[in-house]
Amino acid sequence: MSTADTPTPAGTPATPSPLIEVRDLTVSYRGRQVASLPRLDVFPGECVALVGESGSGKTTSLLAILGLLDPTAVTSGSITSCGVEILRATRRELRAIRGSRIAMIMQSPQASFNPTTRFGTLMRRALALHGVRGQDSRARITEALRSVQLDDDMLRRYPHQVSGGQAQRIAIALAVALGAEVIAADEPTSALDVTVQAEVVAVLQQLRVARGLGLLLVSHDLALVSTIADRIVVMQAGRVVDSGTPDDVIIRSQVPYTRELIAAVPTLGGADD
Ligand SMILES: Nc1ncnc2c1ncn2[C@@H]1O[C@H](COP(=O)(O)OP(=O)(O)O)[C@@H](O)[C@H]1O
Ligand SMILES: [Mg+2]
Repeated sequence: MSTADTPTPAGTPATPSPLIEVRDLTVSYRGRQVASLPRLDVFPGECVALVGESGSGKTTSLLAILGLLDPTAVTSGSITSCGVEILRATRRELRAIRGSRIAMIMQSPQASFNPTTRFGTLMRRALALHGVRGQDSRARITEALRSVQLDDDMLRRYPHQVSGGQAQRIAIALAVALGAEVIAADEPTSALDVTVQAEVVAVLQQLRVARGLGLLLVSHDLALVSTIADRIVVMQAGRVVDSGTPDDVIIRSQVPYTRELIAAVPTLGGADD
């Protein structure tokens, strides 16, 4: 039992344990180090964003945190996700937390959904895998869809019958229905139109506030993450080059790479021509 689980006197809130805790992580492919993350914590109700250009090691870091990388690729460090030591966990332990406690949202969920399966069947099967069936399953699915502003009508549809934004919200609803405590999202809005991007971010924001969900958001879009993140971690060529609150990073940072990222975004005060 961690100290955070120890009962505290009434009225004294316990310090929550982080949902994700990464220390001194390094990942290498064929001897080449592609990601190094000295420290990363995501607490309940917190949104941490990993930003950086393509190839900077964001997806690799996320996959390591979810226990989805070949163990030999992780060359050092420790990762604890929802209390499970990812690098020492058995497949069974990993399966038990993935999906139900830590959910991953991909860039284009439409591509990862089975095209011949209606969303209702997909969600019921996913819940059944985690032991939730019947009335309990139906109630959870309806409630989860409502939490992303969709109704039960979606359950009859196939993946090609929904928009990209709806598909992304269904993926988020599935995570909610499974009871996820933390959502790790890899470029969840980069395949969407700008207005739809804002809707998806609003849904994530609402879940975070209403349910205390932790969010680990990977994006190349500094403007987008600055609207939702509590902390931003900037990666370049596999290394963390900057980190802090949105104000630390966007207003006060003197790190040349961060300044370059900001200069590329007109709405953050960069060049607008
Ligand atoms: N499976 C893999 N095998 C070898 N190299 C990889 C593999 N996946 C990613 N890389 C390399 O690791 C680096 C980081 O990639 P990635 O984590 O996907 O970056 P990002 O998500 O920031 O775009 C890149 O140089 C990429 O080419
Ligand atoms: Mg990536």
